[in-house]
Amino acid sequence: MTDTWNSADKFNREASQWDENPQRRAVALGVAHAIIAAVTPKKTMRALEFGCGTGLVSMEIAPLVKRLSAVDTSPEMLAVLQAKISRSGITNIETSCTNLSTSTESAFNEQQFELIYSSMTLHHIDDTAAFLNSISARLSPRGILALADLDLEDGLFHDDPLEKVHYGFDRRELAALLNGAGLQVTSFETIYTFNKTNRAGIIAPYPVFLVTATKTQPIIQK
Ligand SMILES: C[S@@+](CC[C@H](N)C(=O)[O-])C[C@H]1O[C@@H](n2cnc3c(N)ncnc32)[C@H](O)[C@@H]1O
Repeated sequence: MTDTWNSADKFNREASQWDENPQRRAVALGVAHAIIAAVTPKKTMRALEFGCGTGLVSMEIAPLVKRLSAVDTSPEMLAVLQAKISRSGITNIETSCTNLSTSTESAFNEQQFELIYSSMTLHHIDDTAAFLNSISARLSPRGILALADLDLEDGLFHDDPLEKVHYGFDRRELAALLNGAGLQVTSFETIYTFNKTNRAGIIAPYPVFLVTATKTQPIIQK
């Protein structure tokens, strides 16, 4: 049972079997393809994924960008990714066990990224507005943010009733939070639908969106 917003223990326990779930692999591939189509990653880009887990999305994106920082709070999820990196010979991914929502002395505070993305992680972070502000500060001018997550759901998606999560996101509310963080929404699309037996034992559809947003230039008063 997970009754705090710090989910590292839960994901540490799940890490070794994470990739065995076909829906997880399918949604991650769907997210990767949707990001590639919406953003067109380039070999000049420094990219960051927060909540990278075992790297199901980032292993697809890495070959398309210059450098990729894969960040997660679960050492065991990162260990699975590190093993994949070693086997694949990919050399442009660096992994980091960092909580970007709380870390103040992180090396990432000094770095800027042309692309920041995540998949199914935002709903695990308590203060969405504060987190989007800190992510926006790490984007380079005109940098792109791409977030995939659940649309507003019935609260039955996660198996553990005590797990602290947001029950997905209302698109308008999330767009307003992105605007408040200095980001201009450029697209919002449904990219995948989980058909999942929920906590009530009913097979229900849970759509996943991808929102992309660009950092807006500060208005300079003359
Ligand atoms: C639902 S999993 C998704 C993993 C991966 N993106 C995928 O699609 O397979 C959420 C991931 O976010 C990580 N996470 C949760 N809170 C985090 C935070 N504050 N900062 C970074 N990672 C976090 C968890 O450890 C976990 O690996």
